[in-house]
Amino acid sequence: MKNQISSLQEYLKKYQESVDDPKKFWGEIADTFNWHKKWDDVVDWYFEGEDAPNVKWFLNAKLNITENIFERNLPLRKDQIAIIWEPNDPKNEVIKITYGELFEKVKQFANALKNIGVKKGDRVAIYLPMVLELPIAMLACARIGAIHSVVFAGFSANSLADRINDAKSNVVITADFANRGPKSLNLKSIVDEALQNCTSVKNTIVLKHNGEKINFESPRDIWWHDLIKNISSENIAEVMDSEDTLFILYTSGSTGKPKGVLHTTAGYMIYTEYTFKNVFQYHEGDIFWCTADIGWVTGHSYIVYGPLLSGATTVMFEGIPTYPDAGRFWEVVDKHKVTQFYTAPTAIRSLIAQGDEFVTKHKLDSLKILGTVGEPINEEAWRWYHNLVGKSRCPIVDTWWQTETGGILISPLAGITPTKPSFATLPLPGIQPVIVSPEGKILEGNSVQGNLCIKYPWPGMLRTTYGDHPRCYKTYFSTYKNLYMTGDGAKRDEEGYYRILGRVDDVINVSGHRIGTAEVEDAINQHKKVHESAVVGYPHEIKGQGIYAYVTCAKLSDAEKLTIEKEIRDTVGKIIGSFAKPDLIQLVNGLPKTRSGKIMRRILRKIGEGDATNLGDISTLLDPSVVEEIINGAKVEVKR
Ligand code: PRX
Repeated sequence: MKNQISSLQEYLKKYQESVDDPKKFWGEIADTFNWHKKWDDVVDWYFEGEDAPNVKWFLNAKLNITENIFERNLPLRKDQIAIIWEPNDPKNEVIKITYGELFEKVKQFANALKNIGVKKGDRVAIYLPMVLELPIAMLACARIGAIHSVVFAGFSANSLADRINDAKSNVVITADFANRGPKSLNLKSIVDEALQNCTSVKNTIVLKHNGEKINFESPRDIWWHDLIKNISSENIAEVMDSEDTLFILYTSGSTGKPKGVLHTTAGYMIYTEYTFKNVFQYHEGDIFWCTADIGWVTGHSYIVYGPLLSGATTVMFEGIPTYPDAGRFWEVVDKHKVTQFYTAPTAIRSLIAQGDEFVTKHKLDSLKILGTVGEPINEEAWRWYHNLVGKSRCPIVDTWWQTETGGILISPLAGITPTKPSFATLPLPGIQPVIVSPEGKILEGNSVQGNLCIKYPWPGMLRTTYGDHPRCYKTYFSTYKNLYMTGDGAKRDEEGYYRILGRVDDVINVSGHRIGTAEVEDAINQHKKVHESAVVGYPHEIKGQGIYAYVTCAKLSDAEKLTIEKEIRDTVGKIIGSFAKPDLIQLVNGLPKTRSGKIMRRILRKIGEGDATNLGDISTLLDPSVVEEIINGAKVEVKR
């Protein structure tokens, strides 16, 4: 395949070229795409100064990303399967859709969107389960230049409303129901609730997926099947500028509400295709399966855009790993002869806990490459994945990246870069990571540890946070001058390999889901009996990190004491989504605060980790005795 590295030597050579002359490097890759007009310059950027950050790739070039998925690939791939859709219930029918068929559906839905007035630059919120109509809707938006804002279907009505309002979306695309294992979820009712607080939305497009009865409000609500009735699939793609927005995806940070991370057209396109082909070493005839939900960036980049741009066959799975039993992943791998399998460490750990026989009864002989993403993978999980799933013959790519980075930044190239358990290994070509001390000094050489930053732009990086450019600068570029700050700690070992150590800010990673502790606190505080709360992450065997909430409450009756924890959890579920419910709740009489009123999270984090041996100086606290009380009542075993 074009632009695919095939040896370590070639990687080293390409890496050097990408650093020595980034414009030449990315310009040559971009040459293999279809353009209406080519660029005047490859990149123009500054991370400091007026309106910083300013990052532009492929300046003034014109294109449409869907033409690079369809028109560019169709001559070779019209009848090749683009997506294999595996249903939640294995008794239901698998759908295999070719590039040719997908193209027709995308164009038709693009025309349907236009028919209800959606135009270039409009924001379309997509709140769908893992059904084929989700990538169809995304690509239809891209076809007409509308900006998609996909919201994971596990978010609550309140979170959905926040995202719709922030982006001022005028259309929401949803389904009647979502199927998740044995359960089904009435998505439409969640949308109805959200829309009570959204004035920008004119229409809701509703996919009939389960067919059960739902509330329907004409003329606002339109059935998907009615909308496309008699709509032609003749469609000419909107010509977009390289830097026109492709999508917004909301993500959590240490403070405030989630931010709309904004990605633009050309850079994201080139970066996702390049990283997909190289990291996973995709070859003709391979079947790639990324188990993420498209509601998160992993699904955007490695279920939809990266694979489809590359002309790959990608699997999309509606269900969950444990339904009907804990062997589902492996059954699907055998069924579709999956060659590359990409999942999260949390999924691996939860399957380890179910017993090896769920794996060993499957052949898994089609597998060539395994991948992980989303959180550090512990050595035990790595070995189980390598030995049991990969039968010790499949290289594992531990891919490090973020919503903001658009695609993978640090990862082995499968079968090319020698791997080491729990190391993301080396930066991809074009990526210039640095390790920075807390004082802002770049630590040169090997065997160093500190904050992971990137010193040169790459095409797939975020351009801004939607509607609030200063926030983008403040969050990512203000800590260290001229550097993009990732928020992760990392170590570079004696060989120059990177190991990601986890977040250094108030973001926690629960089952690969990124959650801001402040968001959870805000949600907990909405319970009427709660005065105050402090949330930290703590080590959790399956989830990687669990959520530990320390809460002060008004006086509770005996009856209230019995129900308060459940009520707090339900409050968080309602305000954010079930996945953000605290695992541990400890009711306390006071939180450790400095005299100026700041909560000392460091102490709470330590206690959550079960270690009170080295709490540091607590004499500056307003009331040091609360620490003793918290340790005594801790929900984990604490070493003193
Ligand atoms: O802390 C890092 C962790 O996930 C964060 C990014 O989360 P999100 O934007 O939701 O994107 C997740 C999928 C790309 C990072 O700041 N993370 C991601 N991949 C890894 C990781 N931590 C360790 N190793 C990884 N491979």
